[in-house]
Amino acid sequence: MFTHITSDETIEVPIWVEDPFPAFIADNVISEESCNELISSVKPLVKKHSFLMHGGRNFLPNTAIEFSELISKTEIWRSTISRLNNIYSKNFINHFKEKSQNKLVKKWLNSKKFKFTNSIYNLRSFLIRFRMKFVSNKIKSYQSKQVSSLNAKALLFVGVYSLINSLYRIIRSLADNISGYCNLTLLYDYSVSYDGYYREVHRDSDSRSIVFLLFLNSLETQSSGGSFGLYKSLNKSNLFQPQPDYSEEEGNLVEPTKGKMEKCKTHLIEPKAGRLIIFLNTSYAYHSVQKLKNTKIGNHFIYGGYTLPSNFGSIARKRTTKNLPTEFNLYR
Ligand SMILES: [Fe+2]
Repeated sequence: MFTHITSDETIEVPIWVEDPFPAFIADNVISEESCNELISSVKPLVKKHSFLMHGGRNFLPNTAIEFSELISKTEIWRSTISRLNNIYSKNFINHFKEKSQNKLVKKWLNSKKFKFTNSIYNLRSFLIRFRMKFVSNKIKSYQSKQVSSLNAKALLFVGVYSLINSLYRIIRSLADNISGYCNLTLLYDYSVSYDGYYREVHRDSDSRSIVFLLFLNSLETQSSGGSFGLYKSLNKSNLFQPQPDYSEEEGNLVEPTKGKMEKCKTHLIEPKAGRLIIFLNTSYAYHSVQKLKNTKIGNHFIYGGYTLPSNFGSIARKRTTKNLPTEFNLYR
């Protein structure tokens, strides 16, 4: 048996989940009208500037120039992101700091001083401070272009810059970790997924610490999939695989590929306008998205993570068999 939260029902009292991993599920975080406003305001940008990933998801990162301009200029975007930052995510941390019975979770949340910053450590801000804005602009303009449109010189420039920038991020992150800080930056995207999109059972990448998903619409009655599943690992090992393979799902049990981890589904949450899920990205925070079928309007959502500059001090790295690096290049 698992908890099935359908799109027809409304969660009147937010649900705090301790098992299988810390999570929070709530409805009416923003109204349906606000969701529609968010969708229509960003529509032209999705058409022009998003890129396709995971076989059916149009992805627009918050760091894309055009999208970041829209966020800063539009009241509905500013207030939505501010609610996520200042109400839901902070309450989430405080709740589990006090209430969690899990030693690993409690220890991690209480051993750090959380600092929320607006942008990830980036050499470009360093260049601007030292009056080298023209170099910074050049880098940004190269990075906003398709790789295939860059000449060899530009490619080399971007490659070397990316390497030095990663090193800079790691050094700053190491310094934070030594001083007991968790420097979290919200990196998020507006996404629309269509038929064929799914995510296998996985946990999120190492640097993601607190992850949220805000659904902006329900799907049509004839469509299926798009639901978000939470899973519990049933194996006895103390180490967890980041992306355990599985063959098929029967009932709430996920049949493991030979020798892989066995899991069962504990929650299945259908998309609905204004429905929010927040979870702590532990090494066992297994989740999935069911394959989308027969949708014309698509599944519109905002997905984000409060993200560390590197995997130093990450909770996802504790009790795991393998690293899973965060794709910082998606948020250039
Ligand atoms: Fe995920």
